[in-house]
Amino acid sequence: MPKLPKASFQTTEKIWMNGRMIDWQNANVHVLSHALHYGSGVFEGVRFYETSKGSAIFRLKEHTARLFYSAKSLAMKVPFSQKEISAAICKTVRVNKISSGYIRPLAFFDYGKMGLNPIGAPVSVVIACWPWGSYLGGKPIRVKTSKLIRLHPDSVVADAKVCGHYINSILASLEIKKAKFDEALFLDHRGFVAEGPGENIFFLKKGVLHTPKLGSILAGITRDSIVEIAKDFGIPTKEGNYRLKDLYSAEELFFTGTAAEVQPIGSLDSKKIGDGRVGLITAKLRETYLAAVAGKIPKYKKWLTLVK
Ligand SMILES: Cc1ncc(COP(=O)(O)O)c(C=O)c1O
Repeated sequence: MPKLPKASFQTTEKIWMNGRMIDWQNANVHVLSHALHYGSGVFEGVRFYETSKGSAIFRLKEHTARLFYSAKSLAMKVPFSQKEISAAICKTVRVNKISSGYIRPLAFFDYGKMGLNPIGAPVSVVIACWPWGSYLGGKPIRVKTSKLIRLHPDSVVADAKVCGHYINSILASLEIKKAKFDEALFLDHRGFVAEGPGENIFFLKKGVLHTPKLGSILAGITRDSIVEIAKDFGIPTKEGNYRLKDLYSAEELFFTGTAAEVQPIGSLDSKKIGDGRVGLITAKLRETYLAAVAGKIPKYKKWLTLVK
């Protein structure tokens, strides 16, 4: 097997591949795999954290359920049950002996058929994990609205996590990095605020949290967790259709996502949000979220699956 080039992130030992644990460097696919050509795969991003009882996976059941929902959107039959995939995710974390990090389950149309219709191509499933720190750093970031719009919900199944959809996110990320911003924000086809390339967005105004309605965005699992945490603090959340001006005049603004966790936004399109620093409510929600994922809040232990 040819030697792999050096990865820019810390790799681990084993990858679960179609029911077997494979050495990291040997977890390969054929160049004519369907998904490599057409993006016909579905994936999840999951995090696991160190708790006093050992490593725990955050909202495993919901992530596995969303993987299967995404697969269904491509008429993909995953050759394992949700229970088997959840168990395989736990096993991958356990075998790699790391206490916290990121997990990437991926199901895709593999080698055996070319042409756009993927039916008939075998479906493969892989699960990898590796240590991965803060995605956007946790300090207030500079966000820019992308020139591109979010994928039209009549063109794709917008709330499915399909590999091919991420070209939209990649293009926006390239655009804003060139302009020297930290992260992009998408509007939808109607001009309403949608989401980031890999994050949902919230803003605070007059004691109420607001977040875009479902429709052209991913139904984020972190978004759902933040809505519940906010409710427990007595902070109401409204879902609606918002314009950029609503965000420019917000008191606080932040992204949520498995990778980004709760990420404060200091400015949008070079307009300062509040005083540009982490807002009080954002700080409170972020701190509570990070305590919840680490198993420090009994009420939210229901979200954790220990990796025994
Ligand atoms: C486009 C997009 N929006 C939002 C999110 C946040 O979703 P979650 O909180 O489930 O990670 C993600 C990440 O999965 C994403 O890729």
